[in-house]
Amino acid sequence: MSAPGGDGWRIAPGGTVSGTLGVPGDKSISHRALMLGALATGDTRISGFLDGEDCLATARALAALGVRIERPGATEVRVHGAGGAGLSAPSQPLDLGNSGTAMRLMMGLLAPQSFDSVLVGDASLMRRPMERVAVPLQMMGAHIRTHGGRPPVEIRGTPQLHAVHYSLPVASAQVKSAVLLAALAASGCTRVTEPLPSRDHTERMLGAFGVALRREGRTIALEGGQRLRGTRVRVPGDFSSAAFFLVAGCLAAARPLKLTNVGVNPTRTGLLELLRRMGAEIHVRPRGDPSDPAAEPVADIEVRRSALRGITVPEALVPLAIDELPVFFVAAACASDETLVRGALELRVKESDRLATMAAGLAVLGVEHRLLPDGLWIRGAASLKGGRVDSGGDHRVAMAFAVAALKASAPIEIADVANVATSFPGFVSTAHAAGLQIESV
Ligand code: S3P
Repeated sequence: MSAPGGDGWRIAPGGTVSGTLGVPGDKSISHRALMLGALATGDTRISGFLDGEDCLATARALAALGVRIERPGATEVRVHGAGGAGLSAPSQPLDLGNSGTAMRLMMGLLAPQSFDSVLVGDASLMRRPMERVAVPLQMMGAHIRTHGGRPPVEIRGTPQLHAVHYSLPVASAQVKSAVLLAALAASGCTRVTEPLPSRDHTERMLGAFGVALRREGRTIALEGGQRLRGTRVRVPGDFSSAAFFLVAGCLAAARPLKLTNVGVNPTRTGLLELLRRMGAEIHVRPRGDPSDPAAEPVADIEVRRSALRGITVPEALVPLAIDELPVFFVAAACASDETLVRGALELRVKESDRLATMAAGLAVLGVEHRLLPDGLWIRGAASLKGGRVDSGGDHRVAMAFAVAALKASAPIEIADVANVATSFPGFVSTAHAAGLQIESV
């Protein structure tokens, strides 16, 4: 195997997977631990931090705002809290790389500051919609300008924000989180209502930092002016990274495949429900004390090779499986019968247009499918063709097609895989350890 991190991969067809695997820390939780740690008074110690490009972009941006961040180890971080009013003006635009989460949450964090800032990113991030965050922040009194709804995002710091009641038009944890971060500095009680539940890491972690918030049905209420106290954050393994091996296990586990220390927050584990509905045999063994509402639930997960059947995905599960849908499409391509996903328009504005990039890759692999405006219809097959698939620079698309090779009749080559380092550094070695014959080309 040549060194990981080349432009592409070649994966040998077929084979099996097995073993006990760990996955890197949760990306969403790592971003939030850095940001809340920066806003807190006192130190925050983070363990299990995701040492991936996206979270490093957040760390660099906070450092440019004057926050002292130490890295005693690759996955250990100490954030010296600057306090809500302790950030300082950056000397140049903040570059958030490939990370939509970093840019959107930073908008909420920076809107109430006493200085101006500009947010930029890589070519993919510069194409992504930011108006969805700018709109509620503007309602709170923020001065934010996007360019045709996209970055660069120009923020004129406005310390006097006021509370609003904002109903999200789409289920988005990033928009919800940006509003909650701004609400910390706003006068009055901000309310955010979600159309469907989305990941609640921000709410849980605010609780762990000593912030009181109330959940009233689909509405979260947060009183402005509360202080955050630095704390200890243990980041569990990222369910979204485990997802690739859950599907790999369903398709080709020689013996039960075990994933240890995985975050199983119910607002993230829609894929478990979807795979179970398809007939997957998956056992979740909780670890730790599940009684603390601010804590993130963690489990070991065991998956067996399973004969999957196609399903119609309930739309309410889409936000709970949003980042796992690329690999879910691979599961559907290898299942018997048909699978239908609708209500997944959000996939079109991720790191790539994931409906289009996945459909193009499925076409290369000879999978009968239909690209719909807001989803995909797929007819599963017993075996896929090999061929050259383009990931569109999208980390999750690249890893999803690597898993597809387990059911291919010829090698799969995947172009443009460097961005896998944004969320899953070490994917190639973990995949290798599981049994995938993957090499960098
Ligand atoms: C994330 C929320 C989701 C998800 C993204 C991470 C977060 O995006 O797709 O990868 O950390 O809040 P949306 O909020 O746009 O749904």
